[in-house]
Amino acid sequence: MIKNNLIQKVYYSISNFVASPEFIKNILEPARIANQKQDITGCLIYHNNVFLQLLEGDKNKVENLFNIISKDSRHREVTLIFEENINERIFPSWSMAFHEFDDNNEEVEKFIKSVQFFSENNEKPSEAVEMFWNMAKHIVN
Ligand SMILES: Cc1cc2nc3c(=O)[nH]c(=O)nc-3n(C[C@H](O)[C@H](O)[C@H](O)COP(=O)(O)O)c2cc1C
Repeated sequence: MIKNNLIQKVYYSISNFVASPEFIKNILEPARIANQKQDITGCLIYHNNVFLQLLEGDKNKVENLFNIISKDSRHREVTLIFEENINERIFPSWSMAFHEFDDNNEEVEKFIKSVQFFSENNEKPSEAVEMFWNMAKHIVN
């Protein structure tokens, strides 16, 4: 049984800018400070103009942040692909881990495609989420 109020949300979006290190830094630095204050943790992945972000923390705080992020003009088509109550965080010590994949990464292409497929078909994105976890582990280690 889940006794706390922790949730996880995963969404993807399309960047409105080509991601320079500065563009990413302008998103990440304040996000990490704000997340720390709110005890929100997670992971942001960038590849080929697509952001994929996992947010975890108190339900109300994550909902609020997701609403704010959805309206951010630096990206568009913010699409929620997964949402779940959780017992434990995957990123307990990351106010926002970040990873950028280079262009020739087949694993990422496959992942992005399955994310799009599942969100279009409105099903629980189990395969996509499993791949996210695998990538996430890879980033943290
Ligand atoms: C891809 C992306 C990811 C973001 N992730 C976070 C985040 O994890 N935490 C956060 O506080 N802001 C994040 N932001 C920034 C928010 O959209 C917003 O600009 C920030 O919370 C400041 O909001 P405010 O001006 O209403 O205070 C992200 C923005 C983008 C484009």
